[in-house]
Amino acid sequence: MLGKPVVLVTRTLPAAVEERLLGDYDVWLNRDDRPIPPEDLPALARRLGAQAMLVTPTDRLERAVIEALPNSVAIIASFSVGYEHIDHNAAARRGILVTNTPGVLSDATADIALLLMLGAARRASEGERLVRSGYWKGLTPVQLLGRHLHGQRLGILGMGRIGQALAERARPLGLEIHYHNRTPIAEDAAKGAIFHATVEDLLAVSDVLSLHCPATPLTRKLLNAERLALLPPGAIVVNTARGILIDDEALIAALNSGQVFAAGLDVYDNEPDLHPAYRSLPNVFLLPHLGSATIETRTAMGFLALDNLDAYFGGREPPHRIA
Ligand code: DGY
Repeated sequence: MLGKPVVLVTRTLPAAVEERLLGDYDVWLNRDDRPIPPEDLPALARRLGAQAMLVTPTDRLERAVIEALPNSVAIIASFSVGYEHIDHNAAARRGILVTNTPGVLSDATADIALLLMLGAARRASEGERLVRSGYWKGLTPVQLLGRHLHGQRLGILGMGRIGQALAERARPLGLEIHYHNRTPIAEDAAKGAIFHATVEDLLAVSDVLSLHCPATPLTRKLLNAERLALLPPGAIVVNTARGILIDDEALIAALNSGQVFAAGLDVYDNEPDLHPAYRSLPNVFLLPHLGSATIETRTAMGFLALDNLDAYFGGREPPHRIA
C-alpha cells in the first residue's frame, strides 16, 4: 500500500488516541463531534478514499449503509465493546472486517453499576435534588429512607467480564451473588456465586438485579412485565448494558406501583432520547451512558481500536475481530 492508510473517524476521541492515530494514519477527524447521519457515511468514505472507519455506538451502520460503502473500506473498528450498531453479517458478506474493544472497560462499567445500585437503593439523586433545591429543612428521622443492601441477594444477568467485575465489588458489601448465564462459569471465577439455569429462576431471587447481557434480537425487551413481576417486591433494577433489554412501559409501571423500589439506568433505547416518564419519576437514578467514561478507560478503548487497525494494516489478524 502506498502512503498511510486513510481512516475516517466519526467522533472526537481522547487526545492520546488522536495523537497516536495521527502519527500512523492519514486521518479524517469529525471536529464537530456530532453524529454524522449514517446515510452520509458512504459518500464521505468514498470522497476520502477511506480504507478504515473508526466508529462508536452512536453510528448506526445498518445493512443499507454497509452495502453502500465504497470498496476501499476494508475494516470497521468500533470504539466499544457492544457492536449491535453494526450489521456485521452485512459487513462479512462484503469482506469488511469488524472489530471491537472488549475487556478494558469492564472495571469502569462495573463501577457505574455499583454506583447506580447504591444510588438507587439510597435515593441519592432525590437527596441531591433536595439539597440543590434549597428546600431541605435538615435531618428528620423519616426523610428519604432507602433500602439496606447488606444481606440482600444480587442477581447478575450475564456473568461475563463486567458481571464478574460487579460481583467482585458487591461481595465486600455483604451481598449474596446469584447469576444466570448461558452456561455456568468456572468455579474459580464464580467464587461462590450461585448459578440459576433460567432467567426466571434468577429473577425470583434478585433483590437487586443488574443487567449485563448483549443486545440481540433475542434480548430485546427481555425484562418485560411478566418477568418484572417475578422479582421480589421492592426490588432494585440496574442497567448499564443496553436500553433495549428493558420494556420501558413495564418498568415505569413497576416503579410507579412500588413493585420495583428504584432503578438505576445508564443506557436507554434510542439514545439520547429516553422514555419521558423517567424524567419525572423520583425513584430512578439516571446517568447519560457513563459506563466506560473515564480518561483511562476511553484511552485504553481507543488504543485497542488502534491495535485492531495496526494488526490489519500490518498483515496480521486483529486481536478483537467480530466479523
Ligand atoms: C460499549 O463499549 O459498548 C459501551 O456501551 C460504550 O462505552
